[in-house]
Amino acid sequence: MEKEARVRELRERIRYHEHRYHVLDDPVMSDAEFDVLFQELLELEAEHPELVVPDSPTQRVGGAPLAGFETVRHSERVLGLSNSFSREQLDAFVRRSQQEVAPAYIVEPKIDGLSVIVTYRQGVFAGGATRGDGAVGEDVSANLRTIRSLPLSLSGAPQRVELRGEVFLSRVAFARLNAQRQAEEQPLFANPRNAAAGSLRQLDPKIARERHLQVVFYELRSVEEVEVSSHQEARDAMASWGLPVVEGSRVQAADELWAQVERWQRLRPELPYDIDGVVVKVDSLRVQRELGATSHSPRWAVAFKFPAEQVITQVRDITINVGRTGVLTPTAQLKPVKVAGSTVSRATLHNADIIAERDVRIGDYVIVQKAGDVIPEIVGVLKERRTGGEVEFRMPEQCPVCWTPVQRLQGESATRCTNFLGCAAQLREGLIHFVSRSAMNIDRMGPALIDQLLATKMVKDAGDLYFLTKPELLSLPRIGAKLADKLLASIAKSRKAGLGRVLFALGIRHVGQRAAQILADEFGDICSIAEATPGQLAAIAEIGPKTAEAVHSFFGTEQARELVEKLRSGGVQLVQVIPSRQPLPLAGHSFVFTGTLQHWTRPQAADAVEARGGRVTSSVSKHTDYLVAGAKAGSKLSQARRHGVKILSEEEFEELLK
Ligand code: IVH
Repeated sequence: MEKEARVRELRERIRYHEHRYHVLDDPVMSDAEFDVLFQELLELEAEHPELVVPDSPTQRVGGAPLAGFETVRHSERVLGLSNSFSREQLDAFVRRSQQEVAPAYIVEPKIDGLSVIVTYRQGVFAGGATRGDGAVGEDVSANLRTIRSLPLSLSGAPQRVELRGEVFLSRVAFARLNAQRQAEEQPLFANPRNAAAGSLRQLDPKIARERHLQVVFYELRSVEEVEVSSHQEARDAMASWGLPVVEGSRVQAADELWAQVERWQRLRPELPYDIDGVVVKVDSLRVQRELGATSHSPRWAVAFKFPAEQVITQVRDITINVGRTGVLTPTAQLKPVKVAGSTVSRATLHNADIIAERDVRIGDYVIVQKAGDVIPEIVGVLKERRTGGEVEFRMPEQCPVCWTPVQRLQGESATRCTNFLGCAAQLREGLIHFVSRSAMNIDRMGPALIDQLLATKMVKDAGDLYFLTKPELLSLPRIGAKLADKLLASIAKSRKAGLGRVLFALGIRHVGQRAAQILADEFGDICSIAEATPGQLAAIAEIGPKTAEAVHSFFGTEQARELVEKLRSGGVQLVQVIPSRQPLPLAGHSFVFTGTLQHWTRPQAADAVEARGGRVTSSVSKHTDYLVAGAKAGSKLSQARRHGVKILSEEEFEELLK
């Protein structure tokens, strides 16, 4: 069949270009051309589902979220490495590994990620697991599949291959992830390692996919039919099958070793990923076998850990930032210094307790370290350099933005501004979160524009975004017709972002992306969530009592109810639309409500209509299909009669919904 041949050809070409791009880092095709090929394959496979195979490049999306990870017993114990921290310790390893003849070594960077064991059968990706406790790990196959540098099939590989490698995040991906989390006021990952581990252990492969994980391999654990006698040959074999293999250099003599260690230490700041040292391995597999292993680690390899990069600088000031949920975060403003390849001019001090504990004062000389080479941290104060002119920091008693007295709850380290309704800082950060990519995803609506909208009072809350007009946008500096149109289009698009995103966008404490989606799936519309008791909320799997309480008290506020109604009248979809092939029963029908209904509040009735694909508007026109009239119906009833709109009683409305 012609289609089948085309599908096969597309797959091969896509695999080739993925390998060039993700493994060899040497693309020969533009992204746009690649997308065209990929799209064609997607379409052909959609038309002919019988042609889909598990190792098709389209099968990286990962399936539905898992309830938990299966455990996997490793075929052979997965060992760790012993560490060395000095030249003496490294020399001691070399002496221990010397046989009658001095062996050659391979020096590889030690990538700061998470170890995984991956299997291929008949050249096709068969699954993978984390190291776990060395004996039993977790099956993270669905998440591994989403990693673009992991080939779903190998070329020329033996029947069964078991490999070990490292899943990690590039510095860029890590910085982006943390920036996004900061905007969402989620706890930051301390280093790329934690971020990679957290991402690989996501139950929803879609989240793992968005994290842009990478993988490299450094060990061929078991193979059939291939003869390899050295680590170098194993590395070459893995690369020849299309796998990404960690860089490495072979040294003949022990005295070249140190030069290689220093070379990697020099390269470290320039690398696109974080390394915490190098791994030195005996090359010959025969010598490796002779040396053997202890219960924890092989005797033929050692990790050499680089010292964390630290520098000394001065604290010029300690300033306060007010976040979306009102938390006051003190930040040390530093005299700029270079650390680990970038210039650092601030460090977070987290909260009042940490400042007190470290006794950091304005004017102090401090030791700054970049944890995981990215987030600068003050690890110590040089008290002997104090002159007496240093100023102790005190947490302000009022919010530095709105001057409301701050509050610190017992048992909490955070100091908060309690003016949730009126603090300009909270409103601004809340809006930035609302429009952010993982929330309503309103493209081109950045912090600068939000500041303008707030300054001109065009926007006083998130709901106002949905009433912005083109003339209003055009009245702002630096906004032309083209940009205004694009903004309006992305605002319009966000109306259909879905209930999960809306819930997340609202910025309810403790409600992250996942909790929001679970609530949306469980309740289906915003009214049911708003009316649920904390008990009902907490009864849902994965929703804890803190989250339940936060959701309940959020919807208990007047302001939240008003915001929800404003969003609704601005056309934002507040129901979970279940994707279905059948058209929804009320699709294309528009409704207006008047008077008081017996069994429904207005928002509930609107949800019911929207959940079935219908639209609710506030005034009657010739485009209205139904007017639902409750008790004490007003002027809309006569308007409806004038326009010939069908009028429904509450019972008739309920009948229609069924
Ligand atoms: S070899 C028995 N090579 O470092 C062989 N490990 O601290 C053990 N790692 O668990 C692994 N880069 O997660 C090896 N080039 C590399 C590595 C590497 C990173 C990690 C690995 C291991 C940990 C030990």
